Amino acid sequence: MLRLALITSVGASDLGADGDLLLPELGRRGIAGTPVGWGVDFTPGAFDGAVIRSASDYVDHPRRFLDWCAETSNRIPLANPVDVLAWNSDKRYLRDLERAGVAVVPTLWVGPGEALTGIRWERFVVKPVISAGARASATYGRSGLPEARRHVDAITAGGVTAMVQPHLTSIDREGEVGVYVIGGEVSHAIRKAGVLRAGVPPAPDLSLGRHQQVAPSPLLEEHVRFARAVLDAVPGGPERLLYARVDMARGEEGELLLLELECIEPRLFLEYAPARAGAVASAFAAWLERHAGDGQLRS
Ligand SMILES: Nc1ncnc2c1ncn2[C@@H]1O[C@H](COP(=O)(O)OP(=O)(O)O)[C@@H](O)[C@H]1O
Ligand SMILES: [Mg+2]
Repeated sequence: MLRLALITSVGASDLGADGDLLLPELGRRGIAGTPVGWGVDFTPGAFDGAVIRSASDYVDHPRRFLDWCAETSNRIPLANPVDVLAWNSDKRYLRDLERAGVAVVPTLWVGPGEALTGIRWERFVVKPVISAGARASATYGRSGLPEARRHVDAITAGGVTAMVQPHLTSIDREGEVGVYVIGGEVSHAIRKAGVLRAGVPPAPDLSLGRHQQVAPSPLLEEHVRFARAVLDAVPGGPERLLYARVDMARGEEGELLLLELECIEPRLFLEYAPARAGAVASAFAAWLERHAGDGQLRS
């Protein structure tokens, strides 16, 4: 039996609904899957590979998390590849994707020591480039400019670049759609309701995202095509990704725009697509079988 570490947050012992559905399916495929909090020192031979799953607490220690990922991938096969994890941990990756032709939500980037100027939108969102669960994110109208400036300063004071985007009203009306691509196959999609409300200050933790309403979404051809185009633009190519979620929302003209590409710790929300658990487990199993030997080479 091959042993797969499914990487969670430090101190977490399970993978929630994703784990409940995935672990038995892995077992049926001869894989013993075990949730493991990141930061552990893997003893040689304990696992044949590791897949990052629900390690959303990395946003509080991105450097330490990425160092641990690099260290781990020197010992056992790790998905996604460590260079993709590093690239995807900072939303400035959106600039690379835009350069490669992807339609991205228009964004002003404000680095440490820079001032927020040039806002041309009636309503706009401020958020950090390193985030999950709508952490440290808020929406403002023009009259909220002084608070928005303080918000940007609070982000950049921590050495992190801030992002300012038009508030997409489509997200309030219909939410965003996330399309999962796992093992190269488009798997399933979810719709997430908007979470940023006028007058609600930024939350220091992931609580806004934790209470986000989620529902299954049909796989529309348009969404699938957009997701594929985004993955095609990932540096190194889409074949290297074991899993990814492409989050998209509509702009003022109804066009699809990329909000986020999640290649680190997207919750799979398998509870909304339970019939997909077997296929996801098969993709993980195929990846592990393909790479398991690499571990011995490294130990
Ligand atoms: N430009 C925007 N317009 C409206 N809502 C937004 C916008 N950007 C983010 N949001 C809301 O904030 C949430 C979190 O933002 P997101 O960019 O997905 O970062 P993360 O999930 O990494 O924290 C989104 O799911 C969405 O509800
Ligand atoms: Mg998001």
